[in-house]
Amino acid sequence: MKVTAAGLAVFAADNLSERIPEAFASTKAPETTMNVLLINGSPHGKGCTFTGLSEVAGALEKNGIKTRIIHTGTQVRDCMACNACAKTGYCVITDDGVNEAIDLLKKADGLVIGSPVHFAAPSASICAFMDRMFYLKEGPYALKPGAAVISCRRGGSSAAFDRLNKYFTFAAMPVASSLYWNSIHGFTPDDVKKDLEGLQTMRVLGNVMAWMIKSFTVAKANGVSGPEIEPKVFTHFIRS
Ligand SMILES: Cc1cc2nc3c(=O)[nH]c(=O)nc-3n(C[C@H](O)[C@H](O)[C@H](O)COP(=O)(O)O)c2cc1C
Repeated sequence: MKVTAAGLAVFAADNLSERIPEAFASTKAPETTMNVLLINGSPHGKGCTFTGLSEVAGALEKNGIKTRIIHTGTQVRDCMACNACAKTGYCVITDDGVNEAIDLLKKADGLVIGSPVHFAAPSASICAFMDRMFYLKEGPYALKPGAAVISCRRGGSSAAFDRLNKYFTFAAMPVASSLYWNSIHGFTPDDVKKDLEGLQTMRVLGNVMAWMIKSFTVAKANGVSGPEIEPKVFTHFIRS
């Protein structure tokens, strides 16, 4: 390892052992109870979005991480802005799976949100579902890696992707990435299976997320605690 004038460590790219601190190299992550929750926000339970999410799940499973894909369905109520969740941590609407998903995510190590593009945006269902999952008192998902997966026929995936990534950065969730903007193309699952670049993007995303989860677990086991997440300051842009 060389240290530059600025004090930054520079590692030889071909020397892996030099890049892994001794304690990390010798410590395996605990045998897995690690799991990732994947949420399909399409009207279709087994459509294109599901096909993309399944490719991500396959890569996670190959890395020894358990996965669970849940489906929002189409009967998701939108947020009423009643603010009850700020006190309880749960939504007052109890019959459309949002509270169950909150509990699943609390126990999960990562989250993948999947949505089709509807008019250059994520589906109405996934936005309603996520608004209610994320407008809670702060903190329950902090430091769990998150990623969005978008399925579209032709266009609008970047705008939808951008919209869904907002949930992660609101909740101090590190965003896992891939080789593109996590989109897969098609009108049917058979189309999606022909989108080789999209499928690769999904697999790489699963591998990157698995690596992040395992690295965080090893770091924690070796005494590297996560950063303190301060309680949110809520000033409505008023200075004092
Ligand atoms: C209401 C509606 C709006 C859509 N808008 C778009 C769009 O703006 N851009 C696009 O490429 N595809 C659009 N589509 C097509 C779907 O995004 C696309 O076929 C997607 O892969 C379907 O995923 P699913 O099978 O999981 O539902 C739209 C579909 C519907 C039903």
